[in-house]
Amino acid sequence: MESKAFLERLRKFDAYPKTLEDFRVKTFGGATVTIVSAILMFILFVSELNFYLTKEVQPELFVDISRGNIKMKINLNITFNNLPCAFLSIDAMDISGENQIDVEHNLYKQRLKLTGEKVEDEPEKHEELGDKSEELVEGVKKELDPNRCESCYGAETDDKKCCNNCEEVRDQYRKKGWAFKATDSIIQCKREGWADKMEKQKNEGCNVFGYIEVNKVGGNFHMAPGKSFQQSHVHVHDLQAMGGEKMNMSHTVHHLSFGEEYPGIVNPLDGLHQIDQKICAIQSKLT
Ligand SMILES: *[C@@H]1O[C@H](CO)[C@@H](O)[C@H](O)[C@H]1NC(C)=O
Ligand SMILES: *[C@@H]1O[C@H](CO)[C@@H](O)[C@H](O)[C@H]1NC(C)=O
Repeated sequence: MESKAFLERLRKFDAYPKTLEDFRVKTFGGATVTIVSAILMFILFVSELNFYLTKEVQPELFVDISRGNIKMKINLNITFNNLPCAFLSIDAMDISGENQIDVEHNLYKQRLKLTGEKVEDEPEKHEELGDKSEELVEGVKKELDPNRCESCYGAETDDKKCCNNCEEVRDQYRKKGWAFKATDSIIQCKREGWADKMEKQKNEGCNVFGYIEVNKVGGNFHMAPGKSFQQSHVHVHDLQAMGGEKMNMSHTVHHLSFGEEYPGIVNPLDGLHQIDQKICAIQSKLT
């Protein structure tokens, strides 16, 4: 008895009382509401599912407080359509302006024909950063007398009376402020095939690829025509060897990225194609 009264009372809470089958009427209004709400429900379901399935990328900036020997990689793959590899020098400097020695690198230069085909199959490893052109000379040096003293062609100074390779003649000329053209009359240069190398590669392009590892401090790296050197704490590029020719620095950046790769990263310079009319240098600033 008691439980029956309880169930009766419970029934009062039914917010959706059913009508008898006979009293049900199907109206057009009701059908419209049903269809519209079904469509709305479907749309909501799909959009919510879509929202749930999309990855959300949250960019985050934080200060890198790691110190010491952790280096940052700069990956690059750049093609210079009209600039021979022999002319191109690549330097990396950090905030001190001089610290190029410490840069580990793994850069290769691939000579290209003007049409874009490769000249040699094996790309050549780029010489030392902050380039001393030492390797170029290495092969020749071995057979020569290490104590020899060759002429500087009038550019001798008190502290330097011998120029045993093209490089030294060049340096002496520079100190004197003379224009230097690597002609065959300078025996050191002829021996080293300096002029040859310049001449042979005259109508070529160059693809530079690989990576350099730099300290995580402010600095820059750049690619420019001409041998680079340091003079009175100023970084200079010597363009004399090119005999005043106009350089076409047109280049395509296939890839340029900093640090490790991760999926979804967009490198803003990838695919950049720059056509130039004048001598110029590209610079990239790291901070
Ligand atoms: C550099 O980019 C070019 C053009 O996209 C590509 O053909 C070449 O394989 C790349 N080089 C390297 C070492 O990834
Ligand atoms: C430099 O090279 C690019 C591509 O090879 C070419 O389109 C452009 O006209 C050249 N510029 C000059 C001044 O020759």
